[in-house]
Amino acid sequence: MELQDKIKEAARILSGAKRIVGFTGAGTSAESGIPPFRGEGGIWNKYDPNALDIDHYFRHTQDSWKIIREVFYNYFNNNEVKPNPGHEILAKWEQEGRLTCVITQNIDDLHTVAGNKTVYEFHGNMSRFICTKCGHKFPAREIQLTERPPHCEKCGGLLKPDFIFFGEGIPEDAYFNSIKAAENCDAFVIIGTSGQVSPANMIPGIAKRNGAKIIEINMEPSTYTNYISDLYLQGKSGEILPQIDALMER
Ligand code: APR
Repeated sequence: MELQDKIKEAARILSGAKRIVGFTGAGTSAESGIPPFRGEGGIWNKYDPNALDIDHYFRHTQDSWKIIREVFYNYFNNNEVKPNPGHEILAKWEQEGRLTCVITQNIDDLHTVAGNKTVYEFHGNMSRFICTKCGHKFPAREIQLTERPPHCEKCGGLLKPDFIFFGEGIPEDAYFNSIKAAENCDAFVIIGTSGQVSPANMIPGIAKRNGAKIIEINMEPSTYTNYISDLYLQGKSGEILPQIDALMER
């Protein structure tokens, strides 16, 4: 089936869906200028993922912080990062009452900025910091992000970005809400994720087992393409989602 036919078929499926769930990964934000983690231009091609290991952060805080600050915070401070048309379509579908939530592995806050109200942040969010000692949370914009790792103004404890490091557990509310959403949806749209990281990568299978139609948008096949996806649309999510939306019945 040609891409245009698949776009028509996706529009047909989603026009009739009442409880769409969006499941997004780094590729969803690629057209906002944020590099993905894997594949072409991926962050892990340049930086050691160990910098985001929680034990490494405690044992080699200065080294780890240098990379975290450079990869995440300097990039955001030096570039105007905005939602792209793919984010905007998911927000539109929620406003129309078609989409119940977005489950995102992304930490860039762009779904919320785009206007989605129900966003389950499976890997947390870089726009907040949390104290590793007292648990207090701070907006990132209130923290002086210098070369020195940030410390809590309340207890002096080491702060870390409020996103999940390797070796940390998934936020419970995001975890359980995501499973519930995957169990209760009638269409599940996988966007821009390689499916390499668990336990996030088990969510699409739950939707599949519960009878949802699985539509996947990615630049290249992922671990889902031949096993989970009913429809695989190859291309950029910021281009394909608006084309699907334009053909949906209203
Ligand atoms: N449109 C659609 N898909 C895209 C686009 C785009 N414009 N650009 C890239 N992609 C695809 C890539 O082909 C790849 O399959 O997005 C996917 C990105 O995969 P990853 O970089 O592995 O990102 P993700 O799946 O979100 O990674 C999961 O890994 O490092 C951890 O915590 C980090 O949340 C992240 C997790």
